[in-house]
Amino acid sequence: MAHLVAPSILSADFSNLQADCALINNSDADWYHIDVMDGVYVPNISFGMPIIKAIKPLSTKPFDVHLMIVEPDRYIEDFKKAGADHLTVHYEACTHLHRTLQAIKEAGMKTGVALNPHTPVHLLKDTLSEIDIVCLMSVNPGFGGQSFIENTYRKVSELKEMIISQNTNTLIEIDGGVSDKNAAKLVEHGADVLVAGSFVFGSENPAQTISRLKNL
Ligand code: DX5
Ligand code: ZN
Repeated sequence: MAHLVAPSILSADFSNLQADCALINNSDADWYHIDVMDGVYVPNISFGMPIIKAIKPLSTKPFDVHLMIVEPDRYIEDFKKAGADHLTVHYEACTHLHRTLQAIKEAGMKTGVALNPHTPVHLLKDTLSEIDIVCLMSVNPGFGGQSFIENTYRKVSELKEMIISQNTNTLIEIDGGVSDKNAAKLVEHGADVLVAGSFVFGSENPAQTISRLKNL
């Protein structure tokens, strides 16, 4: 499968999201990556359901919603209603991860689990068959524009081996510090989805930057 590109709207222009939605719609992007932060799980607050709901009618591509929040179970239905197509929760924020994944599926969304840089991949061994997307954080979550953590390549390889040995269809998504400096190497190691925020929206021509990430 050719890899996918998911621009993170955390780095978009919040005073004109309509324009950036049009940009993503008309680009080679595959998904919208949407970062929800609560100021508790991560030391930053971004936005929640009202923004997702407001941009849903403006978008033509799936919403990949990344919850950096505590107690995500409380809001699964709300995010579905707001327009999430994939719902990613943090491994570290879920006491009963298996139950959370069932609830996301029951609500009619694809399941995602994000791992912080310090969380080993093998902890997903017993839930992998329930996970559509594993999001490997290649920065500490909370902010855009941070530097890529090199150890991520090793995690991608280990996760890829686990996916092959368990014969699941799980996608490997990389989130944080993705740019033309690491994108090709990530895909070579087995990454399926590249999230990019500041590299896309901080560039002179975001649509062209998305194409560059898509056509490595
Ligand atoms: C970080 C977020 C990322 C962020 C990526 O906590 O989960 O999705 O938007 O931004 P860049 O690509 O700038 O590192
Ligand atoms: Zn994210």
